[in-house]
Amino acid sequence: MRKNKARVAVLVSGGGTNLQAIIDAQKNGVIRHGEVRLVIANKADAYALTRARNAGIPTLTVLKKECGGQREFEEKIAAALEMHQIDLIVLAGFMAILSKDFTGRFERKIINVHPSLIPSFCGAGFYGLRVHEAALAKGVKVTGATVHFVNEIPDGGEIILQKAVKVYPHDTPQKLQLRVMKQAEWKILPAAVEMLSAKIIAE
Ligand code: GRF
Repeated sequence: MRKNKARVAVLVSGGGTNLQAIIDAQKNGVIRHGEVRLVIANKADAYALTRARNAGIPTLTVLKKECGGQREFEEKIAAALEMHQIDLIVLAGFMAILSKDFTGRFERKIINVHPSLIPSFCGAGFYGLRVHEAALAKGVKVTGATVHFVNEIPDGGEIILQKAVKVYPHDTPQKLQLRVMKQAEWKILPAAVEMLSAKIIAE
């Protein structure tokens, strides 16, 4: 039987503003073909978990230190995704490494949002404020955000959506981070979820 909504899981570690953007997009009709059915965090105190609970979305916390190693950590996440019959996995500020075993198991089903225009300021070591510090140090006049498929190469999967954001002369990494989130991340991540969800249910 054809589903009417793709089942989406969001993996988080922190504040969850991107998760919130997806939840809001679902409420206001920007996301029509997908529904967040599960939020998984790898940090017990991630505020994203509160956002999920407030929206009535089931949550799961998987702590690496409580697992025997990377394999068991990924196995627990994969088991939950399979149990909830998840079609699309969204990494939204998920600060854990996923091995090739994991990304290969869910090929072209995992997407991530990165706060720069890939291939600039991406890859190992480029996360959080560091991305914006590097952009300012280089003196770029335009930066932005990218949604891409996740494979075994950090920030290396095919690009799905990008949006450019202006850099201003007196920007600080914090100011730039917020502008990139507001103008780009919180827009293109929900847009990518909708685009891929529509594709999934048409399959
Ligand atoms: C975002 O900047 C995202 O691009 C990066 O991590 C940050 C997560 O923020 N991957 P939040 O938890 O969604 O607020």
